[in-house]
This record gives sequence, C-alpha cells and structure tokens, in this order.
Amino acid sequence: MRHYNDIFKKTDFLWGSATAAYQCEGAWNEDGKGLSEWDWFNHTSKKNINNTDGDIAADFYHHYKQDIDQLVIGHQNTYRMSISWSRIMPDGIGKINTKGLHFYDKVIDYYISKGVEPNISLFHYDLPLTLSEQGGWLNLKLSDYFANYARICFKHFGDRVKLWATINEPHYYSYCTNIVGNYPPSRHLDFQSYFQYQYNLMLASAKAVSEFRKLHIDGKIGVVHDNGNIELANNTKEKSKVREIADLFYNRMILCPALLGELPKEMESVMKLFNVDLYREKNDQEIIKSGKVDFLGLNLYNRQLVTDWHKGETNVFHNNKGEKSATREGIRIKHLFETAYDKNIKRNPWGREENPRVMYTALKEIDKRYQHPMIMITENGVGEYETPDKNGFVEDDERIRITNKFLKYMLKAKSEGVNVRGYYHWSTMDLYSWINGYEKRYGLVRVDFDNNLKRIPKKSFSWYRNFIETYEKE
Ligand code: BG6
Repeated sequence: MRHYNDIFKKTDFLWGSATAAYQCEGAWNEDGKGLSEWDWFNHTSKKNINNTDGDIAADFYHHYKQDIDQLVIGHQNTYRMSISWSRIMPDGIGKINTKGLHFYDKVIDYYISKGVEPNISLFHYDLPLTLSEQGGWLNLKLSDYFANYARICFKHFGDRVKLWATINEPHYYSYCTNIVGNYPPSRHLDFQSYFQYQYNLMLASAKAVSEFRKLHIDGKIGVVHDNGNIELANNTKEKSKVREIADLFYNRMILCPALLGELPKEMESVMKLFNVDLYREKNDQEIIKSGKVDFLGLNLYNRQLVTDWHKGETNVFHNNKGEKSATREGIRIKHLFETAYDKNIKRNPWGREENPRVMYTALKEIDKRYQHPMIMITENGVGEYETPDKNGFVEDDERIRITNKFLKYMLKAKSEGVNVRGYYHWSTMDLYSWINGYEKRYGLVRVDFDNNLKRIPKKSFSWYRNFIETYEKE
C-alpha cells in the first residue's frame, strides 16, 4: 500500500512536467468517451480561430507508455495530468464509462511501476458538452455534479494517487470564457459571468475537497491558480485602490477561499464597482470554510503590471495569433484600472512578458499573505515557434535560458523558507495550445505532428535532466 508520507521520505522535492487531457490525449471519441465543450468548439464553432482541434493531439491515449518511459529517462519523479470528465462520465452525470476508468488505471499504474508520482487535476477546461448545454458553470447544480464526479475519482483512484487538484486555473478559465471569449462558450466582456464563474468554481472545488475529507483519502488536495501577482507601474497615482481592485480581479476570488477558507473581505465593495450582483446561497460560507485545500498549485508564467485607468472604454487585448498580430495582452476597465506595459521587458511573440524574477516575488508574497502554505509550481514554461534541424532535433536555447532563471528564483525563495515542494515544467511533450494550436510549442520533447507523432527529446530535455541531477547531488 502506498502512503503520502512516503513521498517526501524518498526526496525533499518533486521534479516533473505537466500536461492536460484535452491537450495531449487525442482519442476524442474512442472507447465510450462523451463530447466535451472543446470538442464542440473546435469542430463547430465559428469562434474557434485556431482552425485545428485536439482530436488526435499528441495521442497520449496510445503513446502513454512511450511518454512515461521518456520522462523516466529524464530523471523526473512526478507527472501532472488531468482526467477528462467526459471520458469517465460521458454526460457529466449518470452513467460511468468503465473503459474510461480503465484507461486512467493503466496510465496511473504504469507511472507508479516506474517510480513516478502522479499528480492529478480533476478539471482542466474540458467540461462535458451536456453540462455546457445546461448553462455550464453558471448552472447552480454544477458544483454538486462536479463533487459527485470527484467522489467517483477519489474512490476509484484514491488508493494509488496521493496528489490531487480540484480545478485548473479557476481565474484564467473564467477570464478566457467570459472576458476574452477565446474559450467556449465565448462570452465577451461579461463581468457578471466572469465573477459568477469564479465563485461557482470555488464552491465546486470546496465541495470536492469535502468529499475527499469524508472518504479519508490518504493524500493531499490542492487547487491550481494562475499567478497574477500584482505590481504597480511607477506612475500609478491611486496606488492602494488599483492594487486592491486588481488583486481581487486576478487573485483573491481564488486564493482566499482556497487558502483561508473565506471569501475576500473586500469582495462586496469591489463587486459594486463592477456593477456585479453575485448569486449566493445561505450556506455557501460554510461550504467554503470546509473546503480549504492542503496545497496551492501555482501556474507561473508572468505577473500583472497595472496602473490607473487613463481613458477609453473597457476593452480586452489578447493575442491568439502570435507573430501575425501585434497585440499585447492586457485589459482596460473604465474608471478602475488598466494593464501597464514595461518597455524594458522582452515579450514573446504572443505579447507576453518574459520575466522570470516574478517567480521569486510571487512565491514570497503568497507565503507572507496566506499563512505560509505548501506550494507546488504546477506549471511554468516557455512557448515558442520552433524549427527542428534535419534530424528533427530542436535546439531550444531560449527555453533553457529562461527556465534556468525561473528555477534559480524558485530555489532562492525555497532557501528563504517558502514551502515550495515541487516543480512541473509545462509541458512534458508538445501538445495542443488553446491559443495557437500546434504552432506554439512548449514541450521538453518534440512531437512531429506531420510524421506519425514521432517523439524526439529537445535540447531542453537533457538540460532539465542535468538540472535535476545536480540539485539531487547537492
Ligand atoms: C495554462 C494552462 O494557462 O497555460 C495550460 O493551464 C496552457 O493548459 C498553458 O496550455 C499555456 O497557455 P497557452 O495558451 O499558451 O497554450
């Protein structure tokens, strides 16, 4: 029998990499899987601007052994993945698909047989389509449906899986689905739905945590938040106002319930500024209180640099086209705040800052403000356009250079007492990117999508293996 306590007897730190079901599995309609919202979006919706889909993706469904073997060669001792809800329950509720359970049994058992610790997220964006048709995360029943699905997973896999996360990025997911509109169901600048999504997702997370506790699962459970550490541009006039509103907007709807078991104190007053009236029920506070997590998963790519609103209507700026567009990421919210742009910081082709120092600042700040929580860096990585040489090899020196800095900053925070216990590079191998299909690559291993999905480790793969080895020797 495996025990959670044994994990950190073997090593003081977990090193691995991460993927998500829709982005890597493929097999979109195999072995009884139901449709997810993303299957529908990418097959049917005119709002899908990627012109591609995850039908095959990296075909992890049929290549999982090869991918796991490769990860072991890379000295990684953990792997983060998600379960596709509609593979386990084709309609999100009701009938269970035993073939779906069996697929994840095989994957999990194979990892464990190789000494790799699985870390499983229950939800990474791919909502069963049937539930999306019933109002998605605005439907008040969703949190109970999610808790029910979570309980099924805990009961089935809980003897083997010791690290769980309820939901991947409740904030960023709500942002893309309701403000940007590049994720289904593609609402645009809908702040009411944006905040209601976050609220309902955190209720769902809390209910799943309660199920976990009721079953006395031996393990730890977290939620995964996209770091949106607030920094103010130098010329910001109303410093405390901008900080408070932006922090609530990007972080505190998630971090307060997850880590403190309470809603943010400033929630009511900030909601008024957005003209949002959140739907809540009487015993929600109790649910949130009992839904505190054991650890925070932090997906760390960048910060939020903000300043006072200057002029212009509320608008959002998002680059889904990489070099084909000059747009830089950001938002302007009339009368409240707007994104600031620091000319001195390099940006990637998708208009995002490359700023590894944020790793240190974010870890220190969360540690200080949220009672020294246990943290796992559940994602961190570098998206690039990539051209391999004639043998298919990618010399991804930029990825190495930037990741090396991120890791040094993480270890600096750790050495100063931050309770960070693991790091997952995004991503294990190339896979589907929500914002730029297969053009934007993140993998440590190249997948040749035009040639039988051949796997070829990149230069960063060996670099990461050496980094882990060096850390373990020291
Ligand atoms: C995170 C997600 O937000 O960022 C991943 O959890 C995602 O699923 C990653 O792939 C990188 O984002 P993108 O949009 O560049 O692929």
